[in-house]
Amino acid sequence: VDGGVTALVIDRIGLLVTNDPTLGEGPLGVVRDAAVVIEDGRVSAVTAAGAAADERVDAAGRAVVPGFVDSHTHLVFAGDRAEEFTARMAGQAYAAGGIGVTTAATRTASDDELRAGSARRWAEARAGGTTHLEIKSGYALDVDGEARLCRLAAELTDDVTFLGAHLVPQEYGGRADDYVALVAGPMLDACAPWCRWADAFCETGAFDADQCRTVLEAAAARGLGLRVHANQLGPGPGVQLAVELGAASADHCTYLTDTDVDALAGSATVATLLPAADFSTRQPYPDARRLIDAGATVAIASNCNPGSSYTTSMLFCIALAVRDLRLTADEALWAATAGGAAALRRPDLGRLSPGSVGAALVLDAPSHHHLAYRPGMPLVAEVIAQ
Ligand code: NIG
Repeated sequence: VDGGVTALVIDRIGLLVTNDPTLGEGPLGVVRDAAVVIEDGRVSAVTAAGAAADERVDAAGRAVVPGFVDSHTHLVFAGDRAEEFTARMAGQAYAAGGIGVTTAATRTASDDELRAGSARRWAEARAGGTTHLEIKSGYALDVDGEARLCRLAAELTDDVTFLGAHLVPQEYGGRADDYVALVAGPMLDACAPWCRWADAFCETGAFDADQCRTVLEAAAARGLGLRVHANQLGPGPGVQLAVELGAASADHCTYLTDTDVDALAGSATVATLLPAADFSTRQPYPDARRLIDAGATVAIASNCNPGSSYTTSMLFCIALAVRDLRLTADEALWAATAGGAAALRRPDLGRLSPGSVGAALVLDAPSHHHLAYRPGMPLVAEVIAQ
């Protein structure tokens, strides 16, 4: 190895998922008895077991998969909504208004308190196999507070999303359009320097299609990529809007019409499914089979947030995706890795092929099928991340 670059080899891999069909079997590009060499943070070779390098991780015949790419989180917040969850389990419906509770707690928290909570959740996610995640703002809903959340999120990821259009805050009650003007103007200006993306919650009780369009078009004009919270609590215009604006992702997609499915299938907009949110809000699950069979690209993500989905566990999401969304084990793993990367338009993530970011998981299992077969088990034995 030249120039002081150290190479790491993950050796004696029983079953390797590369997500590169040119390297191995099927759409997941499965290679048996393999080794992966990582140099300077990138995969430099996929080769036969027995490769040499400065450092060696012995997979001892177990499976190795790409690290999970969690493309939808609200990781930076303060407070707790366990009581709301408990009431929901007793029959209350989930509603967008709970965002206001977290906003009140987040506004009064110090930078260090927010940092500590986010770092704890990031560590938890990492231990569960997440090697890259996206983080949204959206729990301050004022100019300085949203900019602060974006700045703190940027300490943890380069995929930060501005979500000023999450809820109309109390002080703008009855003046939603004034709030939208603030979000699309001064708030966007203050947040954009930290962000790669902008998002809007297109839903009854949050923002209508015109209001979302105003925010998203302003964000696109500033060079941000787009994402939309779409069709979470009922049918609505969110998916169509996402496709029309060329958004990278329409997230939730719990209630889809045939037109929505066709629109997603005919576009580059990824359908990002958030099964832990449907689980924690006792909603139906999205019709993932219909999306996949129609040809849409599907990602799954945790949607970690204190209201609708307080989990960072991609393992849990994979188990739900297989059991309840009826993805095959292969489709679910792809959706949690390369699918998340597609939703973030990061082709260098979510695969283990030469040139990709060298983020890999050694599983305590002979294959990734165990991720759904053994739900709730800590199957991520080792996380190799950059
Ligand atoms: O994606 N739906 C909007 N945002 C979050 C929930 C936010 C909350 O309830 O605090 C979501 O589910």
